[in-house]
Amino acid sequence: MLDAATAVTTPAIIRREDYRAPDWLVPEIALDFRLDPAATRVTARLTVRRNGVHTHPLRLDGDEIAPLSVSVDGEELHDAWRMDGPALVIDLAGDDHLIETEVQLSPETNSKLMGLYASGGLLCTQCEAEGFRRITFFPDRPDVLSRYTVRMEADQAAFPVLLSNGDHVDGGELAGGRHYALWRDPFLKPCYLFALVAGDLAANRDSFTTMSGRNIDLGIWVRSADLPRTEHAMDALKASMAWDERTYGREYDLAVFNIVAVDDFNFGAMENKGLNIFNSRYILADPETATDGDYDAIAGVVAHEYFHNWSGNRVTCRDWFQLSLKEGFTVFRDQQFSADQGSAAVKRIEDVRALRAAQFPEDAGPLAHPIRPESYIEITNFYTATIYNKGAEIIRMLKLILGEEAFRAGTDLYFERHDGQAATCEDFVTAMEDASGADLTHFRRWYAQAGTPRVKASLIAEPTGGRARLTLSQTVPPTPGQDTKQPMPIPLRVALLGAQSGKPLGPERLIVLDEAESEVLFDGLSEAPVLSINRGFSAPICLETDRSAADLAFLSAHDPDPFARYEAMQQLMLDTLLAGVRTGTVESESVVKAVRNTLTDPGLDAAFVGEAVLLPSEAFIAEQLDEIDPDAIAEVRESLRRTLGTELADLWQEIYARNRANRYEYTPSAKGSRRLRSVALGYIAVSGDEDWASLALTQYRDADNMTDTIGALGVLTNNAAPEREQALADFYERYRADPLVIDKWFTTQALASHGDTVGTVEALATHPDFTIANPNRLRSLVGAFAVNQRAFHDPSGRGYRFVADMVLAVDKLNPQAAARLIPSLGRWRKFEPKRQALMQAELRRILDAPGLSKDVFEQVSKSLG
Ligand code: ARG
Ligand code: ZN
Repeated sequence: MLDAATAVTTPAIIRREDYRAPDWLVPEIALDFRLDPAATRVTARLTVRRNGVHTHPLRLDGDEIAPLSVSVDGEELHDAWRMDGPALVIDLAGDDHLIETEVQLSPETNSKLMGLYASGGLLCTQCEAEGFRRITFFPDRPDVLSRYTVRMEADQAAFPVLLSNGDHVDGGELAGGRHYALWRDPFLKPCYLFALVAGDLAANRDSFTTMSGRNIDLGIWVRSADLPRTEHAMDALKASMAWDERTYGREYDLAVFNIVAVDDFNFGAMENKGLNIFNSRYILADPETATDGDYDAIAGVVAHEYFHNWSGNRVTCRDWFQLSLKEGFTVFRDQQFSADQGSAAVKRIEDVRALRAAQFPEDAGPLAHPIRPESYIEITNFYTATIYNKGAEIIRMLKLILGEEAFRAGTDLYFERHDGQAATCEDFVTAMEDASGADLTHFRRWYAQAGTPRVKASLIAEPTGGRARLTLSQTVPPTPGQDTKQPMPIPLRVALLGAQSGKPLGPERLIVLDEAESEVLFDGLSEAPVLSINRGFSAPICLETDRSAADLAFLSAHDPDPFARYEAMQQLMLDTLLAGVRTGTVESESVVKAVRNTLTDPGLDAAFVGEAVLLPSEAFIAEQLDEIDPDAIAEVRESLRRTLGTELADLWQEIYARNRANRYEYTPSAKGSRRLRSVALGYIAVSGDEDWASLALTQYRDADNMTDTIGALGVLTNNAAPEREQALADFYERYRADPLVIDKWFTTQALASHGDTVGTVEALATHPDFTIANPNRLRSLVGAFAVNQRAFHDPSGRGYRFVADMVLAVDKLNPQAAARLIPSLGRWRKFEPKRQALMQAELRRILDAPGLSKDVFEQVSKSLG
């Protein structure tokens, strides 16, 4: 037996195969909140109904709450209930009962930001995934759907606005300076979609008329000083509502749609029914304080949360293993929406870049999991790039394989068949099959198998006869718990281009590689062919081809598919960089030529060019290697960057000058110009041009928008110049009152590719404006630093120690935020032995710390595993 002092309780593992329908249902719940930052009273009245024939007691989840009273059918119980750990267990004789419980909460000391908490004078909630059990005792699982009535009562001066889900049905003043509001949500919902907000808020109000002519009141609620910064979010909301009607036939269903922005929020935003709650960084924008990237992200997140009203709320998830059912699908929908707002090609490039930056490493590391995981310790750890972004890629492939019309028929059937239900990924695939007649048996492997498939493609053209043979093969690498894999159905958009004319030799083909190996024949070719494959990134794979540098350069100049052009350029750059890392010398000629070509092609728009001429990130280069040497990668990349800067110096100057705007405008073309201009400035800085710093400083001073300001500041921060410190100091003084902008100040320095970044970051952690209590601020410094490959992997190990210290400190306040910092350390297997040892040592130090959260325990133990 273990003695008490050394006993370690390993947290329980939850398994998908153990799913059982709930023992008790809760058709109705009435909540009564007497709100107060220090002591809030919550009374909950639940009508419960036995589900099926069984004798199990009613088990209500709780977390850090204790019952003040428990009654059944109006009678207070003193001994018929018991606590089983954090859960409240009540024996019930009949099939239908009314349960009433009362608890007291302290929102102002709730540093986990889950449940009911205080942020900047507001009281607000976050319940997904399992935060509702921190508010009241309840069967906290997404397949228990209830009708909610919510009464809120608070001090009227401190909390003049009281919001919850659904419709406002009553309200008024009470004695003692208090007031109340009553909200009723007519739709059944799981408790993770419950929300309330109380505070001193002002609304940007607008309205939307739905396709059936119903009028919806829209409100975006912020501090009144922030009202002028809500216009863009409001435009995005109205555009999203119209888009979902047009594209998926989905109409909004309540009379009110409210959004609230809060400063302390664990992630981007939350789709609570009729009352979305947002991290303020995804709502507030004006040209002076938000970049074009921020504007795009705001529109994308507003759309995402709005789209959840159907893909997530009307049809929700049966259990948390199905998370990608709502998240993958909704990310796909928001990606489509954003693609329709501007340049679809640039949007696709950005999405693929994000997938490669976050999801590919995850899929190749110790935390790899299928988009429908088999087990978890803490579900919060599974809000991952795999569930979200790879999940979106899987929906995208379904659409490609089935075709536009069948896909839409499938989503219609899915929404209709499962409206008001808690569904599974299997239900979604079945609806797609039933609507299209397709057999998706093999396709289901995408839900079950983790790991990024590797596809090899080789095109052999017969010298005469106009024929070519495409050989394809695939392997899916082993991942934790999955040693061997079955072949995946991989949809590849393929075209052959004439090596002389650059014209497509016949129509594009969709080839679904469904086996380990396969061959495809092309004939009737009028010239020698060049292979264009996985066009539009039709499948989320790593592709290996035997195409030469000349082929890739040719494609980067001629492929009619813009994504394929970008991709050919990236591959050419990547091949060059990898050869450089291997041999120590960088053969830059073909890259320089291809970049020159792209920069001078009059048919290309600036936004595309800005993306195409960027080198692959250090992290993406690292992903291709068996053993990562971060210094070697950074040096080779820097050297190719310098060569591009020097060799094309005149072009960069010319492009820089040509893309100068007179006045700020938020249009796709103005955005593209700003993007390309900052990219050009970056190359000018490494071109050896003596005036680069004064050029950057001038841009910094003259800018009338944050994109140009931060673009210049970034270039100054990433290079050696006396102007660097001056600009950073000026920026801080200028924006010290605006937390969202000060986040950028921290991030710019944490991402710096010049100077003693580790030392800077350690010092910034003691800056008066730094706090680990605010997730945005934590991420802006520590999260950003952990993805600065070279600085984080400083050979001294100081970067690792810094992040591990942060994990331990943050874990005591906010386990979710702490656990998110683990994956960078978890990649240790990919590094050379010295760094491996240092990284492992930090992971062990974390694991040995007393009182570790489940969140951090799961990520660290799996990372060491
Ligand atoms: N459902 C939210 C969204 O994607 C995110 C909730 C994240 N929850 C969490 N526990 N990490 O829009
Ligand atoms: Zn979502």
